Amino acid sequence: MEKKLQVANIGMKFGMSHVEGALNYPGAEVAIICDCDEENLRFAGERYNIPEEKWVTDYMDIVNNPDIDVVSVAIPDQQHKQVCCDLLRAGKHVLCEKPLALTREDIAEIVKAAEESNAKFMVGQICRFTPAFEKAKEIIESGTIGELYFVESEYAHDYIHIVENKDGSAHWRADPKRHGVVGGGCHAVDLLRWLAGDPIEVFAYGTHKLLPTVSYDDATIAIMKFDDNLAGKVFVSTGCKRDYTMRTVIYGTKGTIICDNTSPTMTLFTVDENGDTQDPQTIEIELNNHNAVKEFEVFADEILNDKPVATSAIEGAKTVEVCLAIVESAETGKIVKPNYNF
Ligand SMILES: NC(=O)c1ccc[n+]([C@@H]2O[C@H](COP(=O)([O-])OP(=O)(O)OC[C@H]3O[C@@H](n4cnc5c(N)ncnc54)[C@H](O)[C@@H]3O)[C@@H](O)[C@H]2O)c1
Repeated sequence: MEKKLQVANIGMKFGMSHVEGALNYPGAEVAIICDCDEENLRFAGERYNIPEEKWVTDYMDIVNNPDIDVVSVAIPDQQHKQVCCDLLRAGKHVLCEKPLALTREDIAEIVKAAEESNAKFMVGQICRFTPAFEKAKEIIESGTIGELYFVESEYAHDYIHIVENKDGSAHWRADPKRHGVVGGGCHAVDLLRWLAGDPIEVFAYGTHKLLPTVSYDDATIAIMKFDDNLAGKVFVSTGCKRDYTMRTVIYGTKGTIICDNTSPTMTLFTVDENGDTQDPQTIEIELNNHNAVKEFEVFADEILNDKPVATSAIEGAKTVEVCLAIVESAETGKIVKPNYNF
């Protein structure tokens, strides 16, 4: 029997979904879980029946452990660069949460460390594993809706309770560098990049009415120009008074897709041979907006079969670059061209 991939997971809040991803994969074993907060570590360890000898509070114990093959990193975005670079330099395969990092300097450093390493690096752009968005991609690639001419996606998620610590101190999500467009809006930006390619210009406006404890805009609307006669729009609201959604509409010359990561159906409009719009089709779809199981399966397959990683460091870097261009445009009132040279 082949040796199972030995997995370590760092960060035991959202990172518990990565533990579940590894636990669900028959060819992997959770060898270490790590959190610098002992309470969070204990909670996760007990929840998943992971024995106490596998718990560590210092991620360097993972960096220095030669038995560990794969590591997931789900800690505050500001720390991604240091931890990912340490792990890559120690030869570990790394699955890092989105956004890859928060600054152009940090994303460039991770890209460089990933290029210099023999290990694989994946950024956790989870929307690429969301059933509705996978189906949308499949429909686009089948040619059913013709050529795309406009794509839009929104990230609407109320952060009111997650931008302040219980003791009133500043939360890492309130750091101005962790602008909502980069932190959460990266999901919508990445989705459009995956479906439609890389924007060449962006222009944005922002407003700030809902999150009093942050200094950055809590709503931003960005329009973008892609190559090839295609335009796009991203709306990000991190203070919205509604349920979480990533409503997405994809317009093609022969049809339209309306989908979401929080609804069990999607809608497809197509045309008949005369070009007339048909009655819409309702497609039932599995609801799974954080498909960490599929994400880990894909990464394990890329590692075990030495395939290129689809959501590579460069992909994560390009997504953050577009987000930073949006923030810059909203601040300066100017069109910004993302720079994809890392
Ligand atoms: N894909 C998604 O939709 C999604 C959703 C939520 C969060 N995230 C991302 O996941 C990451 C973590 O977010 P979160 O919501 O879990 O944050 P959180 O602040 O709720 O939890 C972070 C955890 O990491 C621990 N930690 C912090 N620094 C550490 C270190 N150096 N070593 C070990 N443990 C450390 C903390 O004690 C805490 O338990 C972020 O990058 C965030 O952007 C992604």
